[in-house]
Amino acid sequence: MDFQEIRKEYENTGIQESDLLDDPIQLFRNWYAVAVEKCPGRWLEPNVIALGTSDLEGNVSNRYVLMKSILDEGVQFFTNYDSHKGKQLAENSKCAIALHWPYLGRQVRIEGTTSKTSREVSEAYFHSRPRGSQLGASVSRQSSTIETRKALELQKQKLDEQHKNQPIPLPENWGGYLIRPHRFEFWQGRLDRLHDRVVYEQSEGLWKRRFLAP
Ligand SMILES: Cc1cc2nc3c(=O)[nH]c(=O)nc-3n(C[C@H](O)[C@H](O)[C@H](O)COP(=O)(O)O)c2cc1C
Repeated sequence: MDFQEIRKEYENTGIQESDLLDDPIQLFRNWYAVAVEKCPGRWLEPNVIALGTSDLEGNVSNRYVLMKSILDEGVQFFTNYDSHKGKQLAENSKCAIALHWPYLGRQVRIEGTTSKTSREVSEAYFHSRPRGSQLGASVSRQSSTIETRKALELQKQKLDEQHKNQPIPLPENWGGYLIRPHRFEFWQGRLDRLHDRVVYEQSEGLWKRRFLAP
């Protein structure tokens, strides 16, 4: 496999000072809106985020999850609170996420602190999902060892029958996290690897921005 063959040039006009906003959440919303608008197909989800978490011993773990909203306060995603990520976040609420939109030559990185969303928020999202996904989330003890897939499928079927014509209750250990950002980085790929990077950092409640070397 020849990695030298894979060499893409990023040609665009880059990030102009006049494109920037004082509020990085608003800028993130704008970039996300462009990512959705220009998304090349339904097979690609522009709301996929790489989520990095760590425990207090410094063991780091990374996986993709789906961003489900961008609020003024931060970014929300949903998962199982007893999963590996859930356990790491219980120990260390700091996390980092990254999004990559290759068709725009753009990357966004966010660092922040997580907190669980309210039960109402988790309920509303859980019940907005297809019944099959609700059942799947309910029977899966995410990140724990399973003996067979068949057993999981049988549990799903059993739960479905138990709640025939009734809603599936939100499991105690399932819900959302809100990531409250304290750092954003907007990256725009440019020609000859002289990419643009703008960083926003919070200091005394105000966002300050600066450009970084690529
Ligand atoms: C594109 C994509 C989207 C995913 N979205 C979610 C999600 O929103 N929530 C979730 O719990 N897992 C999601 N997963 C599965 C996670 O990557 C991961 O396997 C799971 O959450 C267990 O991670 P953990 O053991 O580190 O807790 C997604 C996987 C992929 C590839």
